[in-house]
Amino acid sequence: MSTQIKSVLVENRVFPAFPELVKTANIAGMEAYKALVAEAQASPEGFWGRLAKENLNWTTPFTQVLDESNPPFYKWFGDGELNVSENCLDRHLGTPTEHKTAIIFEADNGDVTQVTYRELYNRVCEFANGLKALGYKKGDRAIIYLPMSIEAVVAMHVCVRLGITHSVVFGGFSSKSIHERLVDVGASLVITADEQMRGGKAITLKPAVDEAISMGGCEAVRHVVVYKRTGGAVNWTEGRDLWMHDVAKGQSADCPAVPVNAEHPLFILYTSGSTGKPKGVQHSSAGYLLWAMLTVKWAFDAKPSDVYWCTADVGWITGHTYIAYGPLANGLTQVMFEGVPTYPNAGRFWEMIQRHKVTVFYTAPTAIRSLTKASEAQPDVHPRKYDLSSLRLIGSVGEPINPEAWMWYFKEVGGERCPVLDTWWQTETGGHMITPLPGVTPLKPGSCTLPLPGIEAAIVDEAGGDVENGMGGFLVVKRPWPAMIRNIWGDPERFKKSYFPPELKGYYLAGDGAQRDADGYFWIMGRVDDVLNVSGHRLGTMEVESALVSHPLVAEAAVVGRPDDTTGEAIVAFVVLKRDLPEGDEAVQVAKQLRDWVAKEIGPIAKPKDIRFGENLPKTRSGKIMRRLLRIVAKGEEVTQDVSTLENPAILTQLSKSV
Ligand code: PRX
Repeated sequence: MSTQIKSVLVENRVFPAFPELVKTANIAGMEAYKALVAEAQASPEGFWGRLAKENLNWTTPFTQVLDESNPPFYKWFGDGELNVSENCLDRHLGTPTEHKTAIIFEADNGDVTQVTYRELYNRVCEFANGLKALGYKKGDRAIIYLPMSIEAVVAMHVCVRLGITHSVVFGGFSSKSIHERLVDVGASLVITADEQMRGGKAITLKPAVDEAISMGGCEAVRHVVVYKRTGGAVNWTEGRDLWMHDVAKGQSADCPAVPVNAEHPLFILYTSGSTGKPKGVQHSSAGYLLWAMLTVKWAFDAKPSDVYWCTADVGWITGHTYIAYGPLANGLTQVMFEGVPTYPNAGRFWEMIQRHKVTVFYTAPTAIRSLTKASEAQPDVHPRKYDLSSLRLIGSVGEPINPEAWMWYFKEVGGERCPVLDTWWQTETGGHMITPLPGVTPLKPGSCTLPLPGIEAAIVDEAGGDVENGMGGFLVVKRPWPAMIRNIWGDPERFKKSYFPPELKGYYLAGDGAQRDADGYFWIMGRVDDVLNVSGHRLGTMEVESALVSHPLVAEAAVVGRPDDTTGEAIVAFVVLKRDLPEGDEAVQVAKQLRDWVAKEIGPIAKPKDIRFGENLPKTRSGKIMRRLLRIVAKGEEVTQDVSTLENPAILTQLSKSV
C-alpha cells in the first residue's frame, strides 16, 4: 500500500436538502436517517434481517442473518433460498406494475422500443425455456457480450432465472479479454450479438467471440447464442451457433424461476486490480439483490411515477446494479440507451431527458466534463436549450467529481432544483456505500457526503487505527454488509490479500484514499494503489504494462496516470524499445502501432494517451522503477527533488518529450 495520500481542496459551499424532498423522500429528513443508522449500529443483524424480510420474496425463508464463522468469507441469509429474476419480474405480475413500461430503449439512430414488465417477463421465460431445452442448468456459467439493448437485460435475467452465473464482458473489450474471462469462469454458454451500433457506425461483436474461442482452452463452450442486432454478415459454426430468436421460438412464456441459495453466485464481473490479471469479483444472490433494491429506493428515492435513466453500460457494475437489477426490483420505468452522448450531437442526453421526461438521471463525471466543454463550444447543444424540467434528482458515479463540474451539473442540468447525488462505491461493494440521500443530506460540491445506514465506512492509517477528521488515510468498511464481494472467482487467497490485509484488523480495504471533514463528510482522493481511473473505467497499470511488453518491439514499459480535464486520468506510457530510440515520423508510427496493440490486447479504453520513448527508465540503484518521478515527468512538471539515488538521472530529460 502506498502512503502518498495527497490532500484535496475542501469546499465550503453547502446546499441544504430541498424542503419538498425532506417531506416526501423515502428516507424523509435527517432524523429518519439517523434512526436507521442507530438501528443498524444497535443490532446489525436485526437491521439487515428486517430489511431482507420486508423487501425480498423468499422461496425458503432464512433463519440466520450473518454467518461470520470464517471471515472474510461471510455468508448472508445463508440458509434462505430465492431467485433474483423472480424478485425483479414475477413479483410485479398481478400488480398495477405488470402492464407498466419497464424499459424504454432508445437506439443509436433514435428509434424507440418499449417493453412492459409483463412483456419482459414473457421474453425472459421464452428464452429461458429455450436454453433449458438445450440442457443449461443451475451452476453453469455464461459469458454475455452484448450491446446496450433490451436483449442484454433479458439475457442476464434468463441466466439468473435458471441459476446460471453470468459474466458480462463490456462490448469494448478485445477478443483476448473475452478469452481470459471465458477460460477463467469455465463458461459453457456465450450470448452475443452480430454487431452493435454506436455513433452511427456498426461495430462487430461476434468475430471477437469467434476469435476468443479459437484461442483454445474453451472446450466447455457448447453454444454461442447470437442476437441479430443489425443483420450484418457473420461467420457461422454449425451446431454451435444459434440465433437468439430461434432459441426462444415456440417456447412457453412461463418458466418457473429456479430457487437458489442466498449465497449462490449471481454473477462474476471482472475488474482491474493493482497486480496481475483482472479479478473476477463474485457476487451473491440475496445480499446483492437486497442492496440493489434498497439503494435505488433510498438514494434514488424510487417513486412509481419516476422515469429513471442510468447511462452506464451493462458491462460495468453500474449497469448491473442500477439497470438490470435495482430499478426492476423496484418496478421503475427506465430508459436504456444504445449510443454515445455525442451522436448525432452533444445534446443527445439532454434531448433524451426532454423526450422521455426523465426524472432521475445518473451519469459519470467524465460525461459531464466533456458535455460542459461541448456546450461551451456549441451553444446549440447547451442543456439550457432543452426542457429539463422533468428532472428531480441527478447522480454521479465512477470517479471524483470536481467542484466545478458538480456546480455546472447542479446549475445547468439540475436547474438548481435537483440534488446532485455523488455516489461512492465500487464493483466490489455491489451498490452505493457513501452517498447523499435526497431528503436528508446537505450537499457539499465534491464530497460524496455520508455513509448509508448499515455501512460502517471509516478512514484509517496503515495499522487500521482511526485517523482524525481532516487527515488523509485509507478508506475502509469496518463491518461486513450484505452486498459485499464474496470472493475472487477461483482465487480465495487473492481475495483475502487484496481486500482484507492482516494489518487492517479484518476491515474491508477499498483501495481509495480519503479524508473526512469536521462534519464527518467523506472526500475521496482517488486510488492509493496502482489502479488508474480513465473516464470512470478502472485499469491496472500492470495490465497495460504487460500488454505493452508483449509487443515484439518493446523491452520494458512503465505506465502511470496523469490528471486530465476530461477523462479524469489519462494513461502515460514510458517505453524502452529493443532497438534504437525512434525519432520524428518513425516515433509517431511506432507509438501508433503500440496503441493499436494495447487496444487489441485489452480494449480501446486502455490505449495510452501519451507514449514516451527512452533508452531506459528511471531506476534506483537496486533496479526499482521510480514511478513517483515518472508521475511528475508525465505531468510535464520539473523534477525538483533529489534524484541522487537514481542510477541514470539523464534519462528524465529524454522521457519528458511526448511523441
Ligand atoms: O476510486 C473509486 C472510484 O472508482 C473506483 C471503483 O471503480 P469501479 O469498481 O469500476 O466502480 C465504478 C462504479 C461504482 C473507486 O475505488 N469512484 C467510484 N465512485 C466514485 C469514485 N471516486 C470518487 N467519487 C465517487 N463518487
